[in-house]
Amino acid sequence: MSGHNVWTHKGTFLLAAVGSAVGLGNLWRFPYLAGENGGGAFILVYALTIFAVGIPILIAETMLGRTSRQSPIMGMRHLTKTHKTSRVWESIGWLGAVSAFLILSFYSVIAGWALHYTWLMLTGELVGADAQTIGDGFNALLASPGLMTLYHTLFIAASALIVAMGIHKGIESGLRIMMPALFAILIVVLIYGVINGDVGAAAGFLFTFNLGDLSLEGWLQAMGQSFFTLSLGMGAIMAYGAYMSSEASLTRTAIAVAFVDTAVAMVAGLAIFSIVFGAGLETSQGPGLMFVTLPLAFADMPFGALVGGVFFILVLGAAISSSISLIEPVAAFLVERFDMTRPQAVTIMVVAAWAMGLLTVVSFNIWAEGTIFHTLFGRSAFDFIELLTNIFMPLGGLMIALFAGWALTQSEVMKELGTNKTWFMVWRFLVRFVGPAAVSFVFLRTIPYVEGYVIPTLGALIIVGAFALSQRMRKPT
Ligand code: PHE
Repeated sequence: MSGHNVWTHKGTFLLAAVGSAVGLGNLWRFPYLAGENGGGAFILVYALTIFAVGIPILIAETMLGRTSRQSPIMGMRHLTKTHKTSRVWESIGWLGAVSAFLILSFYSVIAGWALHYTWLMLTGELVGADAQTIGDGFNALLASPGLMTLYHTLFIAASALIVAMGIHKGIESGLRIMMPALFAILIVVLIYGVINGDVGAAAGFLFTFNLGDLSLEGWLQAMGQSFFTLSLGMGAIMAYGAYMSSEASLTRTAIAVAFVDTAVAMVAGLAIFSIVFGAGLETSQGPGLMFVTLPLAFADMPFGALVGGVFFILVLGAAISSSISLIEPVAAFLVERFDMTRPQAVTIMVVAAWAMGLLTVVSFNIWAEGTIFHTLFGRSAFDFIELLTNIFMPLGGLMIALFAGWALTQSEVMKELGTNKTWFMVWRFLVRFVGPAAVSFVFLRTIPYVEGYVIPTLGALIIVGAFALSQRMRKPT
C-alpha cells in the first residue's frame, strides 16, 4: 500500500491545489470566454458558481482523497467498502482517470503554442508586426503538424519529468520554485498593462454587471468554466488530497484555493484587457485572444517583446503546474495497482496521452474541416475530445457531490471536515441539492451540440439521481 505518502508541510496541499487550479483555464480560457460573453455578467455567474457549487465540491473531492489516502480509483474502491455503499461509486475514480487523460492530451498541445510564442516574443520576431502578419503566423503554426507535435512533445516530456521525480523531489520542489515566480510575473504584467494600456476600459468591461447581456449559452459556459478552472471532477484534486496533512483544514484550504484561483483569473483578465484595449483591439477573438490579439498588442508597446515573452513564460509555468496534476492520479494508480515504479507509471500515462494528443494536433490541419474525420463525425477530433471532457467533468463533479452528500456515513464526514454543526449542515445542503441541481443545468449545455445524446444523458442523470436516493441509507449488512 502506498497510502503513507504525505506532503512535507501542512500548507503544501494548498500550494499544489493552487498549482493545479491556476492554468490555461485562468490565463487563456477565462479571458476569451469573458471577452466573447460580454465581460461583467459572465464573471458574476462564474464567481457565484465558484462559491456556491465549486467550493463545496472542492471540499468534497479533497476529503475523498484525504480519507482514502490512495489514488482516486483505489481510493474510491476503498471508500465504497469502508462506508458499505454501492460499488457503482467506484466509477468516480475511473471517470476522473479517463478525463485526466483526455484533458492532458489536448492541454499539452495548447500549452505547446505558448512555447512557440515564448520563442517568437523573446527573439523579437514580432516587434512592429501588423495584424495580417501575426494572424498569418498563428495560422501557419496551426497548419504545421510537425511544429505542433514538437512543442507538444517538449511540454508533455517536461511535465512527465517532474512527476516521475516523485511528489516531494518533483512536484513539491517544482511548485515551490514555480508558483512564487508566476505570481511575481503576473504582477509585473499587470503593472505593465496599467502603465501602457487602458486599465479603466478593462475594469469597466470586466466589472460592469448587466445580466441581460448574458445568453443562456453564456451562463452555461460560465458554470462549466468554474469547474474546469478549479480542476474539479478529474481526480487531480483527489490525488493531491491523498497526500494532504490531517491537520490542515479542508474548508479553509478549499476557500483559499478558490479565492486565489479567482483572483488570478481577474488579475490576468485585467492585465490582458488593459493591453488589448490600450492597443485599440477587439475582445471577442475567441481562442485566438491570447495568441493573436495579445501578441499584436505587444508588438507596438515599449518593451513589448520582453514583457510578452515573460508573459508566455507565465502561461507555460501555469500550464505545467496543472498538467502535472493530470498525470499524478493515473500514475499513482498504476503504482498502487500494478506495483510499477513511478517512472514506469508516468511513462505509460504520458506516452498514451501524448499519442492521444496527436489527434488534437491533426484537428487543425490534416484532419481539419472538409477532411474525412470531420465529415464522418461532424466535428474535429479535438472538438470531440473537448466535448467528452465537458460531459465527464460535470458528471464527475455531480457524482462526487452525491457520493459525499448522500452515500457516505455522515458522522464520519463531519469528523473529517472538522467544522461545527452549522457549517457542516451548510456544506451538506450545498452538495446534496445546490451542486447537483447546478451541475445538471451545466449538462444541458452540451445537449444542443449532441442532439443524439439527449436521451442517454438524461437517462444517466436519472439513474445517478435514483442511486443517490437509494444510497441514503447504508447498505444493510
Ligand atoms: N484547472 C486547470 C486550469 O485552469 C485545468 C485542469 C483541469 C487541471 C482539471 C487539472 C485538472 O487550467
